[in-house]
Amino acid sequence: MNEHSNQESQHHGEKPVARREMSRRQFLNYTLGGAGAFMGAGMLVPMIRFAVDPVLQPKAQAQWVKVVEESKVSNEPKSFKFKVHQVDGWYESEPELEAWISKGKDGKVFALNPTCKHLGCTVNWNGSPEYKDQYYCPCHGAHYTADGKNLAVAPLPLDEYEVKIEQGFVYLGQLGPNKRV
Ligand code: FES
Repeated sequence: MNEHSNQESQHHGEKPVARREMSRRQFLNYTLGGAGAFMGAGMLVPMIRFAVDPVLQPKAQAQWVKVVEESKVSNEPKSFKFKVHQVDGWYESEPELEAWISKGKDGKVFALNPTCKHLGCTVNWNGSPEYKDQYYCPCHGAHYTADGKNLAVAPLPLDEYEVKIEQGFVYLGQLGPNKRV
């Protein structure tokens, strides 16, 4: 509002409008505060990224693990234990896994995971005299064929590891759904 209108409003008995102006100190406070916040954010973003980045990365792919000489594998399933190296974010571990490895009718090696597809107990080959030449789960009586086909209780066949043979050794890879049944 200019001087003329101020005078005008005084003439008309109205209160003059107060104009607030920013002091030099306020201006400096705002400017320096804003610059500080900007620089702080600039430092914070890389720090947060550094902290959470491994968590955002996909889990390391399972590698092939050398488990046993092929000559030790027959038509009769045998249990073999092996360790895998896992990286999950910042956490690295070497859990021990188990596979029942045997040869199919085609002579090819295959490997089943013994985790029961009912509620996750561990199955055993010939685990019950009632179910000869089958995998049997002691928890609720699920049983499976040598290929891992579910015959009772469990809703799905046993999972199967990827298998490759190299220089006379059996290597196991990713675990996935059973492709044999
Ligand atoms: S967990 Fe195997 S039968 Fe229930």
